[in-house]
Amino acid sequence: MPPHSEALTRLREHPTTALANLPTPLIRLSRLGESLGTNRLWAKMDAETGFALGGNKVRKLEYVLAPRMLEGVTCLVTAGGPQSNHCRVTAAFAARHEMRCVLVTNQGPEGAPTGNALLHRLFGAEIVLVEDRSQRAIRMQSVADELRAAGEKPLVVPIGASTSLGSLGYARAAIELCEQLDAVDDGCSETLVFSASSSGGTLAGLIAGLALMDRTDVYLHGVSADTSATELDDICRRLAGEAAELLGAKIDPGTVPFASIDDQVGDGYGLPTPASREATELFGRYAGIVLDPTYSSKAAAALIAHVRDSGVHDHQRIVFLHTGGAPGLLA
Ligand SMILES: Cc1ncc(COP(=O)(O)O)c(C=O)c1O
Repeated sequence: MPPHSEALTRLREHPTTALANLPTPLIRLSRLGESLGTNRLWAKMDAETGFALGGNKVRKLEYVLAPRMLEGVTCLVTAGGPQSNHCRVTAAFAARHEMRCVLVTNQGPEGAPTGNALLHRLFGAEIVLVEDRSQRAIRMQSVADELRAAGEKPLVVPIGASTSLGSLGYARAAIELCEQLDAVDDGCSETLVFSASSSGGTLAGLIAGLALMDRTDVYLHGVSADTSATELDDICRRLAGEAAELLGAKIDPGTVPFASIDDQVGDGYGLPTPASREATELFGRYAGIVLDPTYSSKAAAALIAHVRDSGVHDHQRIVFLHTGGAPGLLA
């Protein structure tokens, strides 16, 4: 029995609002792999979680918007960039559950909204603009106060749903991924996972899930979209510990092989680099997979750089965790 079997049972039984189509497929990318010189390249397609065009936020919001969190709630308030995937899924949730939704976003480019900004409005969200991202969190709280004064019962959904509770969505995803990996008969004993990372909830949940299962054969690479590797490391380890605590377990996040990578950020958040552009082209041309400019293309660029620079050893397979974001490519 794994040392944390009770916590794993609690995780499996934790109440959620079901949104995602699970399990998401683990697919072999033979042609793309061939173009990079490996036949052991895979993708875990969380871009296909389904709800409101899918992506990683769907798994996290299943927990953050679980039924008990929504008792009496009339309005969801959250924040993000003008192309926020998190805002898109939250707004779609509110539309489906007959709630108001207020999104605090900083100003996007002039002209008609496109990509996620278009979808925020299509799902009926009310948009409150702020001048820059540093003002978003404070404004969210003041919007919630104003709504309360007007008789609403708002729920403030933290940015990126990256709380310990939201991370549980990725602790459960770790179980799902390991079940899929264990069913692959390719003789590999180690898996290197590459995933985009920003507010850290996705990686933290994976770390927590792997630690609870006592898995040391899955090596996580969190590819930053904005923050420094040191900061990302701290956030992920702290959140992973807190997520495990919610399940009554104490873990040492240090037992899970994990590296934060910040050398794909380039000129900053949302700004493509030559490597992220190349990744977008290769994934499109050789795998029919759509990457976004802010997150998944930078994670894919890190994966490609790793395969080219370090190669893939005979006992290793490489898994690209596709966290979604396709509307951003069309913005
Ligand atoms: C498409 C996509 N990938 C990755 C991330 C990063 O996930 P996290 O915030 O959990 O680190 C986000 C959100 O920030 C996202 O929208």
